[in-house]
Amino acid sequence: MSGPGSPVVVLVGPMGVGKSTVGSLLAERLGTTYRDTDADIVAAEGKEISDIFVNDGEPHFRELERQAVRTAVAEHRGVLALGGGAILDAGTRELLSGLPVVYLSMDVEEAVKRTGLNVARPLLAVNPRKQWRELMEARRHLYTEVARIVVATDGRTPEEVAEAVLDSL
Ligand code: S3P
Repeated sequence: MSGPGSPVVVLVGPMGVGKSTVGSLLAERLGTTYRDTDADIVAAEGKEISDIFVNDGEPHFRELERQAVRTAVAEHRGVLALGGGAILDAGTRELLSGLPVVYLSMDVEEAVKRTGLNVARPLLAVNPRKQWRELMEARRHLYTEVARIVVATDGRTPEEVAEAVLDSL
């Protein structure tokens, strides 16, 4: 349920789509604060996300992420961005029910262009196009399932995307 203790907007979408840049712009425009669950997890665990993936495994990371989403959704009233794979967890998807969730989408070519050389993200380490295609196919319906609004980011600047999100709220 959207209520006094819940975010004004929750951003979901694939890594590299611009959730943090757009989220910060939105927070500024709405006169509120930006928070993201990846940063919450890093702060709480004292480790980088890639270390958690490598040392503890993805299932453990998804549990930490579900807990981080539960806490953030309950106490943050500003703009909240989730990690790109948060929607893979059914419990996390349930936590988003009734919230103003915006799916920032991009097509595969845009994803390759934006993140092609970024090996800091564990799921992209051995990437390119084929992996992106598989990732999008596996996740697209889940983003759509949790989102109230879809905003396509292809060929748009972060400012234009933020504007489109504001128009849609
Ligand atoms: C992931 C996306 C990352 C981070 C982790 C896993 C994913 O978040 O949560 O590396 O599964 O797509 P960003 O979308 O903020 O990069």
